Amino acid sequence: MNLDAVVSGVLNSAVGKKALAAAGLLPATALRRGETLPFGPVAIAAVGGSSAACDALSTIGVATQPALVDAPGTRSTDHNGRERPPAYPTAIGAIVVDACAATTIDQLEQVRAVLRPAVRGLEPSGRVIIVAGDPANAPSVEAAAVRQALDGIMRSVGKELRAGATCNLVQPAGSTTAGQLGQVLHFLLSGRSAYLDGQPLVLAEVTTQPAPPGRIVVVTGAARGIGAAIARRFAADGDRVVVVDVPTAGEALAGVANELHGTALQLDITAPDAGQRIAEHVASRYGSDARIGALVHCAGILRDKMLANLDEVRWAAVLQVNLAAQLRINDVLLAPATRGGIADGGRIVGVASTSGWAGNKGQTNYAASKAGVMGLVRALAPRLADRGIVVNAVAPGFIETDMTALIPVIDREIFRRSSSLLQGGSPTDVAEAVVFLADPRTPINGQVVRVCGQLIVGR
Ligand SMILES: NC(=O)c1ccc[n+]([C@@H]2O[C@H](COP(=O)([O-])OP(=O)(O)OC[C@H]3O[C@@H](n4cnc5c(N)ncnc54)[C@H](O)[C@@H]3O)[C@@H](O)[C@H]2O)c1
Repeated sequence: MNLDAVVSGVLNSAVGKKALAAAGLLPATALRRGETLPFGPVAIAAVGGSSAACDALSTIGVATQPALVDAPGTRSTDHNGRERPPAYPTAIGAIVVDACAATTIDQLEQVRAVLRPAVRGLEPSGRVIIVAGDPANAPSVEAAAVRQALDGIMRSVGKELRAGATCNLVQPAGSTTAGQLGQVLHFLLSGRSAYLDGQPLVLAEVTTQPAPPGRIVVVTGAARGIGAAIARRFAADGDRVVVVDVPTAGEALAGVANELHGTALQLDITAPDAGQRIAEHVASRYGSDARIGALVHCAGILRDKMLANLDEVRWAAVLQVNLAAQLRINDVLLAPATRGGIADGGRIVGVASTSGWAGNKGQTNYAASKAGVMGLVRALAPRLADRGIVVNAVAPGFIETDMTALIPVIDREIFRRSSSLLQGGSPTDVAEAVVFLADPRTPINGQVVRVCGQLIVGR
């Protein structure tokens, strides 16, 4: 029996579960995944009179009911004489709190008052979603403070919820339409966002449109792990996938391409002509006028060492694969004259990491490369606005793949339990977020979205 099986056996035994519960580490709940929306009703509360969330939910056909409010006159008393907030008759699937119009500190009490009954009455994998204005564009200092306070509420509620339930925040832009907000709320309510928790989604002033059928989507690092899951998820939507990976992974890569009726390109992305090779592949396999609808930079490597032991070889390998190659490939594929390059209105998604957000011991090179990806997408997005090209990144936390299987088993179990959802994510969880950001209907640009179950690294 290997060490993994022993650790998992101990943790899942009656004694193990009791010990975890005593330590405040409850067993993980299987997450609701896929397109499924919450089973129970969606409660809605508008603080300050905004109708933005209600209007948005009606564009996606989600029926709502008014949220219960906890206030002195609405409470009951149990047989021990303790006051109880009003209770939902059956579990609710979600609560959406529209606080876009909240401007005063007193109004935060209304947020507490609707959240208290809701968090007690939420079904497993239920959702708490707060819709709030941008603190940087608030009409007053108090309103800015209130908007920032909502972010703090969201992060704390995420840490308190149990049984796979999550709490996220959406910040619409001034021009966000009901349809655009509906697209984002649909993603957050559905099981597609299962591993997003404690995450603000900042919306941008971008033109959105329906996804054209059969887009060409290029995914690097797609022979296995997260990259293969991303390719599978795009193919499931009817996109034509080009999967890219190193020649030594050629057999696995061909397997993914065949499974998805896509095409494989064996390529080390650090090659000086990597961008050109991708463009030539697209033009030769899909027609000389073909252009890339979405490009996902997923290839990545680790060469962990404490900085005191980190030489220039390990440094360069990680910086080249995880960051410099993306920059060079973008340069070529974004040149308007490149045949087989990125189409106007196309989407680029980088894969960063929570290590790049928070830093991590033994990962100076990796964190530098992944933080670099964040800097890259933030800087590139506004530069491509005139061509309607949108650039974002995801920052996965602990995801169960071959890469993380190399981490010592005890550390792995600690990582899993360090997220608010008490478990690692699946490659599909990252794929769902990538496909959402690459969807031409999604009004998000220049952002980094964590897919980490609110991991302690990068909270
Ligand atoms: N697994 C996690 O927990 C986690 C967390 C945060 C970020 N990430 C990032 O997600 C991405 C995928 O991670 P994974 O866990 O699936 O890793 P993985 O090791 O399973 O897959 C990475 C793939 O990239 C390919 N690759 C490496 N160097 C390449 C090169 N020079 N040219 C072309 N392809 C190359 C590899 O052959 C492999 O198929 C990476 O960028 C990683 O840094 C992973």
